[in-house]
Amino acid sequence: MSKAHTFDDFKNADLRLSHSHTESGSIHWTSPSNIALVKYWGKHGWQLPRNASISLTLNNAKSDTILHYSPKKHKDKTIDLSFFFDGEERPDFAARIEKFFSSLLELYPFLSDLHFEIRSSNSFPHSAGIASSASAMSALAMCLCELENRLFGTLNNTADFNRKASFLARLGSGSASRSIYPHLAVWGQHPSAAQSSDLYAIPFADQVHKTFSSYHDDILIISKKEKSVSSGAGHNLMEGNLYASNRYQQANQRMEQLIGCMQTGDLETFGQIVEAEALTLHALMMTSNPPYLLMEANSIHAIKAVQSFRQSTKLPLYFTLDAGPNLHLLYPDEITAQVKDFINNELVQYCENGLYLADHCGQGPEKIIEQA
Ligand code: PMV
Repeated sequence: MSKAHTFDDFKNADLRLSHSHTESGSIHWTSPSNIALVKYWGKHGWQLPRNASISLTLNNAKSDTILHYSPKKHKDKTIDLSFFFDGEERPDFAARIEKFFSSLLELYPFLSDLHFEIRSSNSFPHSAGIASSASAMSALAMCLCELENRLFGTLNNTADFNRKASFLARLGSGSASRSIYPHLAVWGQHPSAAQSSDLYAIPFADQVHKTFSSYHDDILIISKKEKSVSSGAGHNLMEGNLYASNRYQQANQRMEQLIGCMQTGDLETFGQIVEAEALTLHALMMTSNPPYLLMEANSIHAIKAVQSFRQSTKLPLYFTLDAGPNLHLLYPDEITAQVKDFINNELVQYCENGLYLADHCGQGPEKIIEQA
């Protein structure tokens, strides 16, 4: 069995362009968001996780990114880019990507030889309270890997390409590392996931029961308001959290339990662990210093409604939460009709303007070939 890769494996080529380089072009990828079942919450070093995490890769909630590149006019070591979101120039996003590209210069010295124009949009409604960093950063990482391959021919093998894309996506946003793979991915070294690594995510759908490859995640938009505390700030607050070390231990234990029941297809244990994880994530926020609360009253109403639906119907519908108030409803394909009725009859009252987004597990990033 091959060993997990090290940081130096991602630096194995000196990716510099010659001074006479004149090529320009465009690269276009879409990439989905993902929803964590065991959560990544707490990091150290250069975007390394404090515990392993596992997530479902979504299908409909995705980012669409086009990277235009051309030779830079002034040869210097700075990053030169402009960024457009939904067709509108966004210097605030450009500043973030510029910082990200600067951090990659050791791996990708050619980034300072080119001018970039990045055009991005999301499939999900603007400010629906859905975190877009996973889809946005994974789409950008796929574009960067394709650019590396176009310029240097160093990523012809799909496994190498995806591993590097996951590695780069992680450096942009930890959870983005998991969006690279279809259906299910694990990020963070863990004994239950062979060849798992803190440096990148690995595909995991083949390791579990096939029911999870068509799992649903319907997102109840409880509130569209922007989060009062960003994920970055939340991760940092874990460093001072009294419960942090127990939490990391617990997360790794839950990974083992969750992977075990996903292998056998035990949906009840699966759901119990996933709900416990969601509530633990929010408990960690409430026990940070300063404490904060991202759930809304309607998040709690919806949680209670899901629990009583389960009790009365015995159907395996469970919820999870991201770092925000919106509920993600997780369920197998077979009970779609019953769940849709339940959402439309009982849960939409808790959603802002009755909004919810139906999603399910998907294939991961897709390369878009432009028509001539
Ligand atoms: O990728 P980040 O740094 O935005 O962190 C995301 C953390 C959670 O979404 C709350 C959990 C997870 O594992 O995706």
